[in-house]
Amino acid sequence: MIYKKIKDDILYAGINDCDRLIFDELIPLDNGTSYNSYLVKGSDKIALIDTMYPKFTQEYIKSFDENNINKIDYVIANHGEQDHSGSIPAILEKFPDAKVVTNQVCANNLKEMLLIPDEKIITIKNGDEISLGNKTLKFMISPGVHWPDTMFTYIKEDNIIFTCDFLGAHYIFDDVFAVPSKELEKSAKKYFAEIMMPFSNVCRKYVKQVRDLNVEMILPSHGPIHKNPNYILDLYEDWAAEKGKNLVLLPYVSMYHSTEEMIDYLGKKLEEKGISNIKYDMVDGNLGDLAIALVDATTIVLGTSMVLAGPHPAAFNTVYLASILRPKVKIASFIGSYGWGGNLFGKMAEMLQPLKLDIIEPILVKGKAKPDDYLKIDKMAEEIYKKHKELELI
Ligand code: FEO
Repeated sequence: MIYKKIKDDILYAGINDCDRLIFDELIPLDNGTSYNSYLVKGSDKIALIDTMYPKFTQEYIKSFDENNINKIDYVIANHGEQDHSGSIPAILEKFPDAKVVTNQVCANNLKEMLLIPDEKIITIKNGDEISLGNKTLKFMISPGVHWPDTMFTYIKEDNIIFTCDFLGAHYIFDDVFAVPSKELEKSAKKYFAEIMMPFSNVCRKYVKQVRDLNVEMILPSHGPIHKNPNYILDLYEDWAAEKGKNLVLLPYVSMYHSTEEMIDYLGKKLEEKGISNIKYDMVDGNLGDLAIALVDATTIVLGTSMVLAGPHPAAFNTVYLASILRPKVKIASFIGSYGWGGNLFGKMAEMLQPLKLDIIEPILVKGKAKPDDYLKIDKMAEEIYKKHKELELI
């Protein structure tokens, strides 16, 4: 456990989970993650903002005694997911007079998922306040980043905001304050891709809302605290923007290199036209790198070999991930190679339908690409160039 004074009567009480290698059993983590909770000591009452991932409940509860915390009046639940709410039942057991303060949607989640009794919950509405004496907690209900139950807690007197998952990162630290670095940016971007990107339009709204408050500090429930709020707000603004970059993502799987050779050729042609591209190996690649590339790409051209009568399963996995992460991609196509037949692209195009993409005519080749096929790839590169130009990316 790390206990650290953030400012007068506000303490960080969290943990670095250095051993966590993957989050949601989906995206590999480079740096583990932290679960942050915060103690706010007012002149009359003490509030705990968010709690702890269940695996660490015992250690967390013990730390209250070790740090002479013998009273908690309010447990503020900014979000019902268990990495933040999982220790609430143990907190209520240790501090029987404590009440959970949250919005109606989160209250319903806590009752159903953690069996928190009704009488232990104070339900607040957007804009409601609770006084701790010399500190006032104001609640800003913020559905969609990333559950329907999420809210932020703002301390008026300190002008600081607790944003739970929003503006967070899977990152560990010795000091709890953010030190800008490429590593932190990468972790925060990967976190954004998996957790926030499907709700980019909502993110844009809350980035503005938090920016307009002109807060002194942003205190998320994963990753470091931001004393320079514009650092993370600027990053989120860029990542959540409606328009992608002049970038083509080239995920591929290739059994006999025929597909890979075509993807490499397309990458070279795009490069010649001044279009950046990222090649991604769908079998050996790190899903986190794919997620990061999806944040910026405007176009995806997916290359796949035929396995039996359809695309390689790794291609399906990528297409499914892209369809649920809802990136800002606008244009897509496919390149593939087969041996004896089947339907290579139909089901994948169907899966991408919710993204309403502009699909460029796919290229399908038996075995290795021939001169005519390379001419088709030249044409595909030219089409991508024209479309990027129309979108004013070039
Ligand atoms: Fe970090 Fe949505 O929980």
